[in-house]
Amino acid sequence: MKCDKVTLIPNTQSIHGLHCQRVPTTTRVYANGEFIIPHPNDGKLIDQVDEAEHFTMYTALDAETMDVVWQCIVDGNLDNTATDYTGRFAGATCYNSEMAFDLAGQMRNERDWVVVFDLHKIEEDVKAGKFITLPGSDVPVVDGRKKDGKNSPYTRYVPVPKNPHGIHASPDGKYWVANGKLSPTVSVIELAKLPDLFADKLSDERDVIVAEPELGLGPLHTTFDGRGNAYSSLFIDSQVVKWNVDAAIRHYKGEKVNYILQKSDVDYQPGHLQASLGETRDADGKWLVVLSKFSKDRFLPVGPLRAENDQLFDISGEEMVLVHDGPAFAEPHDINIIRRDQINTKRVWDRNDPFFASAVARAEQDGVNLETDNKVIRDGNKVRVYMTSVAPSYGLSEFEVNEGDEVTVTVTNLDHIEDLSHGFCLVNHGINMEISPQQTSSVTFTASKPGVHYYFCTWFCHALHMEMAGRMKVRAKNA
Ligand code: CUA
Ligand code: CA
Repeated sequence: MKCDKVTLIPNTQSIHGLHCQRVPTTTRVYANGEFIIPHPNDGKLIDQVDEAEHFTMYTALDAETMDVVWQCIVDGNLDNTATDYTGRFAGATCYNSEMAFDLAGQMRNERDWVVVFDLHKIEEDVKAGKFITLPGSDVPVVDGRKKDGKNSPYTRYVPVPKNPHGIHASPDGKYWVANGKLSPTVSVIELAKLPDLFADKLSDERDVIVAEPELGLGPLHTTFDGRGNAYSSLFIDSQVVKWNVDAAIRHYKGEKVNYILQKSDVDYQPGHLQASLGETRDADGKWLVVLSKFSKDRFLPVGPLRAENDQLFDISGEEMVLVHDGPAFAEPHDINIIRRDQINTKRVWDRNDPFFASAVARAEQDGVNLETDNKVIRDGNKVRVYMTSVAPSYGLSEFEVNEGDEVTVTVTNLDHIEDLSHGFCLVNHGINMEISPQQTSSVTFTASKPGVHYYFCTWFCHALHMEMAGRMKVRAKNA
């Protein structure tokens, strides 16, 4: 995969959990700002905690443009987030309701909370112009904090046990499960109760919780098989626990029923886990991947940085069965499993792809045809080098610049064969880029080192791959 766009999110530090809106369409992405920072964060009130306002925010982005659409200030901090299947609500776990700046402080409260956002209400007010902005950004901001114990129209705070972590929606659209982390429990929130929560029809915020099963030590994340069962990772116990959601709800109501179906050891300390299509209505209950954070003795140690252990379970039967251990370089962290027929990637770059539109526009300005020309354009001390690549050679086997020139090298891979990527590595300049079939890639640098510097291909593309190289000659200033 390629990164299409990076968006800087203002007014926050460290985006942790994020989730897309699921319905009606994926038009929004919601992102948790984890750390509580002073506002304004301009260095004037670094020590005077009381004098600057401290908070973090929930951010909504446009999923297409990646523009920041609005932000909502919250009490506490934000860890993970999940949307619902109606499009109206999102929930986020908070482990720092204490708003503390040290570890002990962040564990002081017996309960933190899940903050629930009324996304429709926020969108409505932002559209109506009912928002503020913060210095240095024009992003609409609404205030979801409690004032004198009174809720804002945008949020509700549902107390859950100590320092919760992952929050996940069940495929039937009925529940969120918030994982206790420092509590052996997970909290099951019934989403049908959220409209009443916002209408203040419930006597207690915790009335939305319909089960709080005790699963084991360190529950971090939960996934679902579409047959009413949930699978939670137990970080401290190094186990995955399979449990039945309805049974847990009946148990919460007082019925004597066992909701734990199976516990399986994993190696070791699992974090995220995901059942196939578990984040969708189409959860098929076939496979489960558990990302174990520590492999310890599981693989031959080859140095201080050990592999992680991604473990695959067959969950199609009554019992989950471990079928594969997979060492992974630290650390992939999270996963989704979808069906092969749902992946429909482009196999070769389209020459009109916006990904390299700026390089195409630059070539047009220079009167260069990227697919045929191999040219050096000098423009004062700016030098633009255009070359093609066809295995096993670049269109230019050398080019010359002067010491101090700002050089832009643009390479267009004319090969059509899928999988025939070239690289462009320039020694002594920290440059190595990839150019896949029909792609244009470019890089700009200063030629500050006089001498001859080789560029060469870094993708094995041909029997003569080693010969795919050229020379940049940098003439010394005083030569
Ligand atoms: Cu091109 Cu190796
Ligand atoms: Ca806490």
